[in-house]
Amino acid sequence: MKNIQQYIQDHKLRFVNELFDLLKTPSISADPMYKPQILKTANSIVQLLKDVGCKNVQSMSTQGNPVIYADKIIDPNLPTILVYGHYDVQPADPVDLWDTPPFEPIVKKTEIHPEGAIFARGACDDKGQMFMHIKALEFLIATNQLPCNVKFMIEGEEEIGSPSLANFIKKHTELFKNDVILISDTGMISNKQPSITTGLRGLSYVEVEVTGPNRDLHSGFFGGAVANPINILSQMIAKLHNKNNQVAIPGFYEDVYELSKDERIEIAKAPFDQKEYNKALNINKEHGELGYSTIERSSVRPTLDVNGIWGGYIGEGAKTVLPSKAFAKISMRLVAGQDPNTITQLFTDYFLSLAPTSVHVKVKPHHGGKAYRTPLNSLGYKAAHKAYSETFDKQPIPQPSGGSIPIVSLFKDVFNSHTILMGFGLNSDAIHSPNEHFGLFNFYKGIETIPYFYKHFTDLYLENEKNT
Ligand code: BES
Ligand code: MN
Ligand code: MN
Repeated sequence: MKNIQQYIQDHKLRFVNELFDLLKTPSISADPMYKPQILKTANSIVQLLKDVGCKNVQSMSTQGNPVIYADKIIDPNLPTILVYGHYDVQPADPVDLWDTPPFEPIVKKTEIHPEGAIFARGACDDKGQMFMHIKALEFLIATNQLPCNVKFMIEGEEEIGSPSLANFIKKHTELFKNDVILISDTGMISNKQPSITTGLRGLSYVEVEVTGPNRDLHSGFFGGAVANPINILSQMIAKLHNKNNQVAIPGFYEDVYELSKDERIEIAKAPFDQKEYNKALNINKEHGELGYSTIERSSVRPTLDVNGIWGGYIGEGAKTVLPSKAFAKISMRLVAGQDPNTITQLFTDYFLSLAPTSVHVKVKPHHGGKAYRTPLNSLGYKAAHKAYSETFDKQPIPQPSGGSIPIVSLFKDVFNSHTILMGFGLNSDAIHSPNEHFGLFNFYKGIETIPYFYKHFTDLYLENEKNT
């Protein structure tokens, strides 16, 4: 790519300022109160895409938040890359734990990012990473080097499980038709050792409600004689794992894709230091499914975690009460082979079977999605591998991730194209946490690497066309 480094050098301050503008708007999808900020952010992205020279830019309405479409079609005989990203962000709480306000972006140096990092909610997940694609396209158009067609799909509901997107893409399949999907919404190993995310876990998310008596009771008059839903819920949750830290739901592992010996050897090659890991988290010992490494436990094995649990009195001081209700939110990360609807059903059957007759139990399913794996022999993966090798001067390592982007498996079903996960964040970037940040090195490296992907994908695609 001619002059990409120079272009970034010449425009880097403007890039950061434009991103700051996006980061100032709290486009939180979880809370309907932020709908105006969601719409404002959608409109800002429309403008940014128009400014770099995209055509047919539009904010398209869905059952929920708008999806932004844009394209730049130069020749129908050339391949089309679909860039997906999301402009919504996680809530900022607990806001007290931020060193600087979450929606007042600022560049600060850290040990891992000596050249500085942008601190703000969404800096890494995903406004910063999505924005790299807009600037990479700006470069390609401005310097007349765009080698293929490109389309954008930027959604506003990823952080709440993309509830509207499935229907939306089924309705607009032709408009978003593509040859490969490119996403920067994951991470890599380190700035010295690039990696390409080759897998995402699926998800099944449920909420449970345990009801004891029909109202809160005096825990002296009634305690001991009436089921306490918090005590019962705790007992039930304790039965969700066995002594080997496996999920105890009957049938949970039935469809799990078991890795081959070779695949496990491949995964074990990634640099990893258990001591450092424990130290960074201030834990004395790791914890997980017997027989698997930490990397495997957090990427290619399915899990069950309680995300929140509440009920009864949690205010100042002590109140003697036997509560009427107890609740928990529970997520199950799924791997290749597992179907989220089947898993939700298995969970529900098992959880209800654990309930003693002294309580009533309800299970409410939330969102879900299947796991995804990028084939290493796909054109897209090969193109990404070449791109990283050039810009990092080091071969990237394929690495499955434990996180989820639920729509990705559906992309394969609807468009029959592979998704390439070119994420430039680091594990230490604190996404979803206080003090989320995104390294400037990573931001500029992303903008530099993306155009090479375009070039290599187009070359490989045309080569492939010729041979078939
Ligand atoms: N960008 C993340 C997913 C991610 C991050 C994958 C890092 C791999 C590495 C995405 O925005 C996200 O937070 N996904 C949610 C699921 C969603 C349904 C709320 C997740 O993984 O918890
Ligand atoms: Mn994300
Ligand atoms: Mn996220």
